[in-house]
Formats: sequence, structure tokens, C-alpha cells
Amino acid sequence: KEIDFSIEEIELGGYEHYMLKEIFEQPDALSTCLKGRLDLNNYKIILGGIQNLSRHLTTAKRFILTGCGTAWHACLVGEYLIERLARTPVEVEYASELRYRNPIIEEGTVVIAVSQSGETADTLAAIEMCKERGATVLGVVNVVGSTIARTTDAGVYLRVGPEIGVASTKAFTAQVAVLTMMAIELGRRRHLDNSRTEQLIKDLDRIPNIINDVLKYSDMIKDISKECGDRENWLFLGRGYNYPTALEGALKLKEISYIHAEGLPAAEMKHGPIALINDGMPAVFIATRCSNYDKIISNIEEVRARGGKTIIIANEGDEEIERYADYLIRIPNVDDALEPLVAAIPLQLLAYHCAVLRGLDVDKPRNLAKSVTVE
Ligand code: G6P
Repeated sequence: KEIDFSIEEIELGGYEHYMLKEIFEQPDALSTCLKGRLDLNNYKIILGGIQNLSRHLTTAKRFILTGCGTAWHACLVGEYLIERLARTPVEVEYASELRYRNPIIEEGTVVIAVSQSGETADTLAAIEMCKERGATVLGVVNVVGSTIARTTDAGVYLRVGPEIGVASTKAFTAQVAVLTMMAIELGRRRHLDNSRTEQLIKDLDRIPNIINDVLKYSDMIKDISKECGDRENWLFLGRGYNYPTALEGALKLKEISYIHAEGLPAAEMKHGPIALINDGMPAVFIATRCSNYDKIISNIEEVRARGGKTIIIANEGDEEIERYADYLIRIPNVDDALEPLVAAIPLQLLAYHCAVLRGLDVDKPRNLAKSVTVE
């Protein structure tokens, strides 16, 4: 009997789009990313690619995290993580800005460049400039042997396999996972107490299973998209670790559904964007117990008072939140430092379903390229 499948159909493995496949691949992709790197006996993290530089990293005085697009959002999560867990100053720079600035690279400055493709022109130029000025530069890259992987002094691969969909999904969560591992290990070597390190490593090990649970909400999120997906302006709001997650949620929606979306730290809303809120405007809140909960509740009330529709990502077991939500998506409780890894998933699904319902080419959105190798 003849098999009548195209190569693309085989690659899609039954999924309608690469983006959906890659969203659903995340439990496996992150397992591979974490595999062999979490030492659950001694509660340490082993990142082979940067082991030779471990002393150098432990004594670093300052980190500069750089990348473009989604990778830049991962850098922002990295900033919160390294500051909080390793108590080391961090700056996050768009690579396109960093390359044309006159950055101060002192002794003890370590640059971490984040890139899925390893080929982004701006990121590469920023790396070369920082190296010339004497910085140690690490790469957090997916594509093995890519230009950035070869240009950096050392690095950690994402190990999530090829990402075909133009909108980055599994690469984002893996970038965050790698930066989380770096931050925990730096913290452990510096000052983090053993019980906290142990807890973080145990929780990180559970993340692939937790993501698997969250993926089960895909149909429910599709229903939310059916009700809100015709609106042309959205807000995404979060605080703390979940402020960058909100930016990434807005970017995903923009990229593939062409809906105008703005991501903000929730408290900034009152300094301007609140003027946008009109009847029925969707506002997506990441309102987990850890992210300054009471403060974010008052931000939610401000949106509701102006007729906005609230789509809230909250923790399981949080009953109080129910009365504030037009739509509620629940995620399991995890350590707040690990929340972006979980909260990103419903936002990816929301963007995906909105775009599909609009009949758009999710894997090849207009005007975008998977890898931007020119300036
Ligand atoms: C392009 C892609 C984005 C990506 C960015 C950085 O704009 O469309 O999805 O985040 O480049 O790419 P990189 O490969 O360096 O992570």
C-alpha cells in the first residue's frame, strides 16, 4: 500500500501548524533542555558548556544580557532571576542599541547573548563589540554550530530541536530555563541557602510535567479567543517576574494575529495606557499569588471599572480572583522564580487560537522572518 503523505505532513506530526506542534512539544523540549543539568542528589546545576568559566562567572561584578525580540524578553526574565537569586547587578540591552552605544565594559563584566537562531545580525554585532572591549561573552543559543555559538567564548545550548514557526515558543521557554539554571547555580555559589536551592532545583525538574497540565487548557483558551479575538486592541499586564511574560504575550499576539497589543508592568497602566481602555477591551493579567497580588488586584479593578474585559491567569485554588475575572485560566502553583516558564504557555495558546480564528498563516506571518541576518 502506498503512503500518501508529504514531508511537511510527516514533520507536522498531525498538528495543523508548526507553532501548535512546537507549543505542545514544550514538555519534551524542556525535559531535554534540563536533562543531565539538574543534579538532584547534590542539588547543583551542571552546565557543561560554561564549566571552564565557572570561577569567572561566580566572581562576575555585572552581567549584560542582550538579544532581540523574544530573546530580549527572555533576557528580562534573566535580569529578575540573576538579581534576585544571585544578587548581582544586571542590565538588559536590545542588541541593536548595544552595538551602537559606547557601553562601559569594566573588568568583571560578563555578557550573555541570547538567540534562538544564533544568526541575528544585531546580536552578533553586539557580541563582537563587547568582545573587542574585553568582555567575556556567553551564548544561550539553540542552533548548534551557528555563528553566535561559534563567536562567543562559551555557552549553553537550548537543545529544543528545530523551531520552524516564525513566532518563537519552545525556544523562549528554553531560553528562560537556561537563564534560570544559570541564576540558581550562581546563587548557590554565592549566598543562596541550601533549602532554597534545593527547592528551586526540585521545582525546575517538575516544570515539564506542569507545562503538560497547562496545555490541557488549549480548548478552553480557544473559546476565550472566539469571544475576544475580534477586538483590535489588547493589553497584557504583569508584575515582577511576570512583567516580561506579559511583554512576550503581547508580542505573540501582534506577530501572528496582527492585533495591536501592548505589554506593560501592571502599575504603569495608570501613567497613560489606561486611557485606551474602552468597553470590551481585553486586558490579560498574570495575577498569580506571587506577583504582588494585592497590587495587581487593584489594577484589575481599574480595568473593570472602565468596562475592560479581564482575562486572568491565576493560581489553582485562588477563589478570591474569581469575582474579578471575565475569563479565568488557572496555572499550578510554582516558585515565583519559575512562573514565567508556566505563565507563558496560555499566552502562546491565546495568540495561536486568535490568529487561526482570523484565518491567518500562523507559521509565516506577514513581514516577519524567522531569522533576521541583515540589519
Ligand atoms: C526575529 C524572529 C523573532 C526572534 C528574533 C530574534 O525577529 O521573528 O521570533 O525573537 O528574530 O531571533 P533569535 O534567533 O536571535 O532569537
